[in-house]
Amino acid sequence: MKFYITTPIYYVNGAPHIGHAYTTVAADVLARWKRLEGHEVFFLTGTDEHGQKVEKAAAAAGLDPQSFTDRVAAQFREMTAWMGASNDDFIRTTEPRHKRACAALWERLSERGEIYLGEYEGWYAVRDEAFYAESELLTGTDGARFAPTGAPVEWVGEPSFFFRLSAWQDRLLAFYDAHPDFIQPTSRRNEVVSFVSAGLTDLSISRTSFRWGVPVPGHPEHVMYVWLDALTNYITAAGYPEEAAPRWQFWPANLHLVGKDIIRFHAVYWPAFLMAAGLAPPRRVFANGWWTVEGEKMSKSLGNVIDPHDLVSRYGLDPVRYFLLREIPFGNDGSISHRAIITRMNVELANDLGNLAQRSLSLLARHCAAALPARSPPTEDDEALAAAAAALPSRVAGALDRVAFSEALEEVWKVIRAANAYIDHQAPWALRRTDPPRMAAVLRVLADALRFIATVLQPFMPASMARMLDQLGVPVDARDLAALAAPLPPGTALPAPEAVFPRFVEDAA
Ligand code: MSP
Repeated sequence: MKFYITTPIYYVNGAPHIGHAYTTVAADVLARWKRLEGHEVFFLTGTDEHGQKVEKAAAAAGLDPQSFTDRVAAQFREMTAWMGASNDDFIRTTEPRHKRACAALWERLSERGEIYLGEYEGWYAVRDEAFYAESELLTGTDGARFAPTGAPVEWVGEPSFFFRLSAWQDRLLAFYDAHPDFIQPTSRRNEVVSFVSAGLTDLSISRTSFRWGVPVPGHPEHVMYVWLDALTNYITAAGYPEEAAPRWQFWPANLHLVGKDIIRFHAVYWPAFLMAAGLAPPRRVFANGWWTVEGEKMSKSLGNVIDPHDLVSRYGLDPVRYFLLREIPFGNDGSISHRAIITRMNVELANDLGNLAQRSLSLLARHCAAALPARSPPTEDDEALAAAAAALPSRVAGALDRVAFSEALEEVWKVIRAANAYIDHQAPWALRRTDPPRMAAVLRVLADALRFIATVLQPFMPASMARMLDQLGVPVDARDLAALAAPLPPGTALPAPEAVFPRFVEDAA
């Protein structure tokens, strides 16, 4: 089956930070998991390069928008690689293929009577690239008006094309009703349903007061509203408007991962644009929460913005990926701190998993001639551990289908803790003298359990789990879920074990 997953495309007004890396890693884990399950996956990420916010950032950097976006987009591409993302494409909204798709979608909406020319008068927040109704605004102590997000707003009055969003209210509500899982988590769904139920006004979808955008077909004095342009990226990459292209088979996307701040664009405007164009809306939109830093909002002015490169150079990629998805349930907000990362690394990775593997593998290396022992008739304890390990693929799949990364990891850690209890209780190091065949049997049970554990953890920590599977003698072509059905033959050679997760020792400095 085909599976299409996306991250938001990131604004190139500034360098990538940990909030961006977060969604990229989350989408990567799901993409890798779906591949392990045997699906044909298309995983898309990229950059959102038009609009006033980017134009202003370019001006502030003293560069023309194209050179500026080329430079910052390259940083995002690097971040994608640094975070170990296995994306199949990286889209930039300044690419010709994207401008073509935007123009085609516009023309289709226009032909279907969904667009009309008018005059926009109202509030706009450049920081959010969003229009706000008077009733949504807040007033500061100095009398200044600002958006509910805290962004400054300015009054805009200019000729503009409008999309007939108001006409889509009932059809959107019917769509949410028919697809109860379309917006997740439920709290976000409720938020969207009440926003739409309160009534929709037509949406301004073009601007004439600046130039940095995709020109409106036939009206080059207008550039498209950056959100119409940006959302279209998801179909551009699937080959739109060539609906005969093989990539188009991936549409509708199975899952758009987005931050909680941009749910309205994805769950209201996007399905409305698509339905209005006669295209299928995406199957699911899942909103993640926001990271704060040691409990404080991340901001340039506070100087506490976390650069993902720094974290990765300090702790290593896999521990950072693990931390981001383990620390908080996806969907909730959470606080990132060095202390919390180090604790998870030392307790869960080094102690629980690292030691389990190291203890089992070094006994196998030393006392089983570095070869996998045969399976023996199991005891009750052996069976209990084997059954818990064998249940992992379906348990992890269940959690990941709900985009519940931390639950998926907790399922794996339950088995890791059970395996640690098993090794302590069986004490294979003592059996070496009293009952060597039983020692071999115990080590085989552990090696089999570790194979399940390392296989299902590959999407989270690809490089570390590849090393662990190497050490367990698992051939590279037998690392997907289907391969778990066939036990490794006895006598499989086991390479010399090496610790996969050393403890993190803080500098004395
Ligand atoms: N360009 C738009 C998205 C267009 S998608 C068609 C945009 N870009 S963004 O760069 O501002 O944000 C991208 C994503 O990063 C959003 O999902 C946003 O929620 C997320 N995050 C930004 N700061 C974050 C944190 N501090 N924590 C977690 N995610 C954060 O919006």
